[in-house]
Amino acid sequence: EKAGFEHFMMKEIHEQPKAVRDTLNSVLVDGKLDMSAVGFSDEDIKKIDQICIVACGSAYHVGVAAQYVIEDLAQIPVRTELASEFRYRKPLLSKNELVIIVSQSGETADSLAALRLAKEKGIKTLGIVNVVGSSIAREADNVFYTLAGPEIAVATTKAYSTQLIAAYCLAIQFAIVRGTIDEAKYLELIQEMAQLPDKIQKIIEDKERIQWFAAKQVNAKDIFFIGRGLDYAVSLEGSLKMKEISYIHSEAYAAGELKHGTISLIEDGTLVIGVLTQSELYEKTVSNMVECRSRGAYLMGLTTYGNYNIEDTADFTVYIPKTDEHFMTSLAVIPLQLMGYYVSVSKGLDVDKPRNLAKSVTVE
Ligand code: M6R
Repeated sequence: EKAGFEHFMMKEIHEQPKAVRDTLNSVLVDGKLDMSAVGFSDEDIKKIDQICIVACGSAYHVGVAAQYVIEDLAQIPVRTELASEFRYRKPLLSKNELVIIVSQSGETADSLAALRLAKEKGIKTLGIVNVVGSSIAREADNVFYTLAGPEIAVATTKAYSTQLIAAYCLAIQFAIVRGTIDEAKYLELIQEMAQLPDKIQKIIEDKERIQWFAAKQVNAKDIFFIGRGLDYAVSLEGSLKMKEISYIHSEAYAAGELKHGTISLIEDGTLVIGVLTQSELYEKTVSNMVECRSRGAYLMGLTTYGNYNIEDTADFTVYIPKTDEHFMTSLAVIPLQLMGYYVSVSKGLDVDKPRNLAKSVTVE
C-alpha cells in the first residue's frame, strides 16, 4: 500500500505532481478555467466585497499564501484567520463577504464551527475540501474539491499542494471576471500553473541533496525559517513540517520581524533557512540573513536558479525552478517537506504517526 516507499509521507510527497495536475484539470476546459462545478456565477463573483479565509494548521498556511495571491490578482481585500480564534471572537462580516473554509479532512471541529457561524450570519461560504461527503463539504454553500486522493501521513503534503492550486484558480477566475487582469495575463497564468507538476517532479528528483543536509541537522535545538510575503507563508509551512515530525523546535518569522525580538535566540551554529523566491524582496531578506550570520547563524538559502549570488551569503543552497511569482509557494514547499521528512527519518522517528497528533482533529 506504500507503493514501494518506506513511509506514506514519502509516497504522498511523490504523488504531488499527479495530485496538482488532477486538481487543475478538474477545472480546466480547453485551456480556460471552468468553475461551474464550484458554482460561482460571474454575478456572484462581482458582488464579493471581501474575503475571509478560515482554517487550521497547514490549511491555514494555504490561506496565508492565498491572501497575497488573491489580493494581488483580484484586488479583493482578504484576511486569513485561525478557525479556533474566528469562532469565538465574534467576527464582523459584511453582507457580501465570502468566507472560505480550507480543510483536507472536512471534519476539523474548529473549521466546521467557523463554517456554521458564517452560515448562521447568512454569509456565503465556500469549502476547499479533499474528502467528498465530509461535514464541511456537505454544509458549505459551494465546494471546490481538491483531488489529492486519500492522505494517510499525519503531516500533510499533497493536500496542502492541491489546496494552493484551488486558491490560485479562485484568484485567477475572480481576477478575470472583475477585470483586474486582461485575457493575455489570464492565459499566461493558466499556462504557468499547468507547468507546476513537472517542476515539482524535478525538485523531488533532487531529493538526495536535501537528505544529505537534513541528516546533519539531527542535533539541532532550534531552526528558524525566514522570508517575506509569500516566502513568509511558505516558511510557516516549512516550520510546521519540521516541528510536527522531527520534534525540533522551529519558528517561522517574517524576515523583517526578527530584529524585534527573535534574533536574540540566534546562537553559534543555529540553522536559519532563508526563503527567497520573490524578486522584489530578495535583497531585503538577504540583509536579514546577513544579520543572522553575524550572530553566528548557519545559513541555508532556498531560491530560484539564477540567484547564484546567494552563495556569497548562505552556507548551503537549494535551487528550485522559476514560475510566476504568485505560484512560487508550490515549488518552495517541496524542499521544506523533504527537510522535515529526512530530519525525522534520520532521527529514527515515526514520521507517518508523530507523537501526540491525530490526522483529523475532530475535537476543539
Ligand atoms: O483536515 P484539515 O485540513 O482541516 O486539517 C487541518 C490541520 O489539522 C492539518 O493541516 C495539520 O496542521 C497537519 N498535521 C499539518 O501537517
